[in-house]
Amino acid sequence: MDINCWKHRLEELPLGDLHLYQELGSTNQKAEELFQQGAPQFTLVAADSQTKGRGRQGRSWITRPGKALAFSLILHPPSDFPAERLEMFSGLGALALAEAVQAECGVPAQIKWPNDVLVEGKKVAGVLVELHWSGTDIQAVVIGVGINVHKGSITKTDQLNFPAGSLEELCGKKVSRLDLLCRTLQSMCSWYPRLAEEAFLSSWDSCLAFKGEQVELQAGGTILDRGELVGLASSGCLVLRSRTGEEREYNSGEIRLRRANL
Ligand code: BTN
Repeated sequence: MDINCWKHRLEELPLGDLHLYQELGSTNQKAEELFQQGAPQFTLVAADSQTKGRGRQGRSWITRPGKALAFSLILHPPSDFPAERLEMFSGLGALALAEAVQAECGVPAQIKWPNDVLVEGKKVAGVLVELHWSGTDIQAVVIGVGINVHKGSITKTDQLNFPAGSLEELCGKKVSRLDLLCRTLQSMCSWYPRLAEEAFLSSWDSCLAFKGEQVELQAGGTILDRGELVGLASSGCLVLRSRTGEEREYNSGEIRLRRANL
């Protein structure tokens, strides 16, 4: 990563402070330290490689030098941001990523709810949203994004949970990490003030993978539910329809979604 060149390009975007590193433990961890020291809205932390990258559900996330994108964006929502709309932050990360992949790579991208991005059914990117509270008020939201860009970005561990792929291999052309980063950030910054709008929900919903298909939801290795994936409720929760026609809503929490084995 040419830090000066990246900084120069990123300065054109409406971001807060910029913190770019060749190597970090975790960009989400660094973002947490920075907002506690007063880092402003849209502060960006990006690293060429991570030694202790965090994935969802306590998993680790490996970022090898020169192969992938790993970054975190700090948001300061209003302290009275409604608790029932917190799902929107997962959608914000996933939708921005899906839009950026489509625009930069020219291939359709889908969102495996809540926040994995798939190309041709393979996971190319993941989002880790971490909420930080001060009592009952939300203090900051850190949206961490990891994208498998070049060949060699995928590890064996990545393949354990879901088939994974790199963007370049799946779209069959060169992909610039910096262009993809800028495009994702532009999308995040422009959707962020519009999280309550119908257009946000419908754009997120229109990217969902497995719509109309039978899926199952798992938590801690146990199957919670099976049903047809209907789409998103107005809260951003996922709606599943059982065989009897009953509709049930789920928030992302510790849930994993996959296509059901029929
Ligand atoms: C997932 O499990 O799919 C989410 C992975 C999120 C990884 C990104 S990489 C940048 C940011 N920093 C971290 O430590 N994790 C996230």
